[in-house]
Amino acid sequence: MKIAIFPGSFDPFTIGHADIVRRALPLFDEIIIAIGINHQKTPCFPLEKRIQSIREAFADQTRVKVLTYTGLTVDFAREQQAQYIIRGIRTIADFEYERTMADANAQLAEHEIQTIVLFTKPELAHVSSSFVRELAAHGRDITPYLP
Ligand code: PNS
Repeated sequence: MKIAIFPGSFDPFTIGHADIVRRALPLFDEIIIAIGINHQKTPCFPLEKRIQSIREAFADQTRVKVLTYTGLTVDFAREQQAQYIIRGIRTIADFEYERTMADANAQLAEHEIQTIVLFTKPELAHVSSSFVRELAAHGRDITPYLP
């Protein structure tokens, strides 16, 4: 079984994230959307709401699970018997961060876990969780950016 985790803060989970999951589905048997909980940061969107909206977005997909984790992403991947980590890259600005994290995770997992990077659709390249949080803070309608 090819199992991948798709880790992130997902504060909130956007249409860009949903697009990555849908496009990654043919590559894996199961995708676990893994919401990383960072106790140092207070999220903008409550965890329960985030879990619920992601589950609703993938209600038609039996091969997609939504779980939360604390600690290192590679430890969670191992716990779930996942061999892959999926990450999305929007622009060149994401690249250095993703490359460093992929290298760190490869080393931490003794190269047993591979990071698979997918590029977001160009038309969604400007959609990020921070952009959506900013719009929400200014009272704008954010529903077009949520799955
Ligand atoms: O959506 P984000 O904010 O880019 O997600 C970042 C996340 C949660 C994937 C990253 O911060 C993470 O993996 N955190 C857990 C700690 C960890 O494993 N760090 C990487 C190796 S030091």
